[in-house]
Amino acid sequence: MKCIMVTGGCGFIGSNFIRLMLDSYPELSIINLDKLTYAGNLENLADRKDDPRLSFRKGDICKRELIDDILQHADVDAVVNFAAESHVDRSILDSGPFVQTNIVGTQVLLDACRAAKIPRYLQVSTDEVYGSLGAEGFFTEDTPLAPNSPYSACKTSADLLVRAYVHTYGFPAITTRCSNNYGPYQFPEKLIPLFISNATNDQSLPVYGTGENVRDWIHVEDHCRGIDAALRKGEEGEIYNFGGNAEMTNIGLTKLLLELLGKPDTLIKYVKDRPGHDMRYAIDASKAKEKLGWTPTYSFREGLQETIDWYLSNSEWIERIKSGEYLSYYETQYGSRL
Ligand code: NAD
Ligand code: DAU
Repeated sequence: MKCIMVTGGCGFIGSNFIRLMLDSYPELSIINLDKLTYAGNLENLADRKDDPRLSFRKGDICKRELIDDILQHADVDAVVNFAAESHVDRSILDSGPFVQTNIVGTQVLLDACRAAKIPRYLQVSTDEVYGSLGAEGFFTEDTPLAPNSPYSACKTSADLLVRAYVHTYGFPAITTRCSNNYGPYQFPEKLIPLFISNATNDQSLPVYGTGENVRDWIHVEDHCRGIDAALRKGEEGEIYNFGGNAEMTNIGLTKLLLELLGKPDTLIKYVKDRPGHDMRYAIDASKAKEKLGWTPTYSFREGLQETIDWYLSNSEWIERIKSGEYLSYYETQYGSRL
């Protein structure tokens, strides 16, 4: 592969993916198309701004002329679609932008890629499309789709469009579905960076409901290596699950974070639950292991400690974000909860 277009490359996972790809493939060039929403931050790739192999276009994946223009002027071998509204709580406040970017944006990208005969398309999806598990079992690629939040309903709709394009047009797409990511550059509305930042400032940690909900945590670098493997070795039309083998209850994770940060449990504040809160996610990633030769490399504790260290030594990054639009969101979100 000589050139790929990455959408949403200024967000958390997209920026980590671009960094990994530039480091792994010296001959590769990358076009990063990002709308720079509240979650998109050029600073996430500041260390790569002088790399001639990386170019940036500010724009919306819903704009067909823009995508056509990029694909006509570059010899793109593959498109990797990270661009999305990604936060479940925001989708509960207003699902409009989620329908627009996650569904309409995907449809526009698929049509543009089809017209330009792009040989490979990878849709970055989520385990939330499978809904919620009870105490037992794991999501496999064959688990029926049963999304519960406006966010996951929109991601599922996009996955179904991808599936339909494969089936109807023989479109060369692959879909990946991953569990909860953690690591550097995650927007501090998500549990881990939010709680690290709050605890550091001796502010309370808002745990939703009883805190017994379970998430399976994967280091973002392991997820990005999985996407790379799927892009190179995945079979057209196939779906690959990625997970970190690290199930934790939210309250267990919160107490672990406080322990690692040397802060007291008295910072924990139980708040009103997220409406429709999914109970448990857990991934069976054996297909990715068998077919792609992928396996997660981080142990959760090691990855979490490294992540904490990153946030502590990049506190200005978070503080700059927190001084922007974030504040009004935080007040809307927690004003009624705390
Ligand atoms: P993020 O919110 O950090 O980043 C999203 C990026 O997309 C931002 O840079 C934003 O500016 C850009 N974007 C949004 N709308 C756009 C549009 N219309 N056109 C162009 N760019 C646009 O999200 P993330 O956590 O990095 O997630 C990336 C992808 O991975 C998403 O598709 C998400 O559903 C999926 N995913 C995330 C996780 C996770 O734990 N974070 C897990 C599984 C799957
Ligand atoms: O599973 C993959 C998904 O993981 C991705 O598709 C999403 O894009 C990503 O945002 C993430 O979704 P979650 O809703 O699981 O992540 P979040 O960090 O928002 O919440 C993690 C858990 O912690 C969830 O059970 C809700 C809870 N929570 C979250 C926040 C922000 C709290 O208890 N308090 C909080 O303040």
